[in-house]
Amino acid sequence: MSIQNNSLQAIISHAKEYGFIFPSSEIYDGLSAVYDYGPWGSELKKNIRDYWWKSMTQLHENIVGIDAAIFMHPTTWKASGHIDNFSDPMIDNKDSKKRYRVDHLLENYADELIAKGENKQADSIVAEMDKLLATEDFIGLKQLIEKYKISCPISGTANWTDVRQFNLMFSTQLGSVSEEASEIYLRPETAQGIFVNFLNVQKTARMKIPFGVAQVGKAFRNEIVARQFIFRMREFEQMEMQFFCRPGTELEWYGYWKQERINWHLSLGISSNKYRFHDHIKLAHYANAAVDIEFEFPFGFKELEGIHSRTDYDLSRHQEFSGKKLQYFDNEINKNYIPYVVETSIGLDRMVLAILSNAYTEEKINKEDGSVDERVVLKISPKIAPIKLAILPLVKKDGLPEIARELMKECRNDFYCFYEEKDTIGKRYRRMDALGTPFCVTIDHQTKEDQTVTIRYRDSMQQERISLHEVRNIVVKAVRGNESLTNSFNL
Ligand code: GAP
Repeated sequence: MSIQNNSLQAIISHAKEYGFIFPSSEIYDGLSAVYDYGPWGSELKKNIRDYWWKSMTQLHENIVGIDAAIFMHPTTWKASGHIDNFSDPMIDNKDSKKRYRVDHLLENYADELIAKGENKQADSIVAEMDKLLATEDFIGLKQLIEKYKISCPISGTANWTDVRQFNLMFSTQLGSVSEEASEIYLRPETAQGIFVNFLNVQKTARMKIPFGVAQVGKAFRNEIVARQFIFRMREFEQMEMQFFCRPGTELEWYGYWKQERINWHLSLGISSNKYRFHDHIKLAHYANAAVDIEFEFPFGFKELEGIHSRTDYDLSRHQEFSGKKLQYFDNEINKNYIPYVVETSIGLDRMVLAILSNAYTEEKINKEDGSVDERVVLKISPKIAPIKLAILPLVKKDGLPEIARELMKECRNDFYCFYEEKDTIGKRYRRMDALGTPFCVTIDHQTKEDQTVTIRYRDSMQQERISLHEVRNIVVKAVRGNESLTNSFNL
């Protein structure tokens, strides 16, 4: 058997063909960097979301969840710094009228150099760019683009405007009459919904420091250059957790969460070679430590999750702007203070892409008669696979569908089952491989005699005869997994 893990384009086509992800409003030719999840994509996404939510809340006695609104009081974004600072340096091409993020333009150019084996020059361009970005030297950034004669991919010209800052937040009006309406923003991160609710949650859930608040929800960013499928979207979902701790203990918790989060990723059966940490050298002014968990996507190692030690910056700013005290009385040390925060923040859509990239495999299978068969299989962990079990009666008659339906009834309350009686068994197996279904069970005439079925394992394609009554337990066990996350989560 030979194996090939394929490129982004193959994953995009597969995701569309098999009902995982479609371009948004496709009948109107789509909307750039916005995507819709189909039947199996939404199931996969939900399973990842649930797996994260359970690991954060159910498995931690000191983490609770919230679900804050997308719309927030506009002052929130003044306090958080998003109105003043959440912007990227952009440059427009005067001929194509297209706008680009300066760092993306330069990174793309560096990638092209790497593809030609000119790694040294690529590194030096990126290093120079980082220096200029850090000092907000926009003239220098434009000069860098001009020095390397970087052109617009659409017009092919290097006829650029000056570099300017553009805010990435989407704004809209709250209120029906324009004179009454006030400008509000679609949240660019879910984190602020946690900070502004800090005291509500601490008091009502009677939380004692250290404790965390988790949230999953939509975020919106007007990404100028939106690329790479669901890696960079304008509407996306984040899974964030803010961990409030005593000042001075934050770096210990930062180390703890760095380890816990990588454990969570590895618990989904992905090789550790696919992950790496990228420590931030230049820290945001409010952070005293920050790291990205990078994943090897088909286009290279890129950020999947961020872990940030954010000090007391956010709560202090909201205290200052709201005029309300956001403090905690720590009766162990008899002191009032603004807690420090360690944040873990992962993009749910980016995680879906990581799972699909890792799972997508094209295989050639040498058959006994000398011919070669091909299949595309999604090797997704049973814990998050959209369909866990396919139940397949060999033929549509002789009482086999009835037995299959009975098995459906027994199992579907515990996990997602799929019933299919059309096509040959071989075709049905291939379709289930393409959807990432870890188990198929075939009901045949022997089942009627001895209550056994054939179970087929997706990754090995091995088949064995087992008792009909064992099926449910085998799947439940695989969905639950061997390794328990709870052990490492005892705080
Ligand atoms: N509260 C911190 C925060 O929002 P971030 O690094 O801007 O930090 C966190 O975003 C995560 O959200 C990223 O690691 C990424 O997985 C995801 N993310 C950010 N922008 C995204 C976009 N445009 N499309 C998809 N996911 C995105």
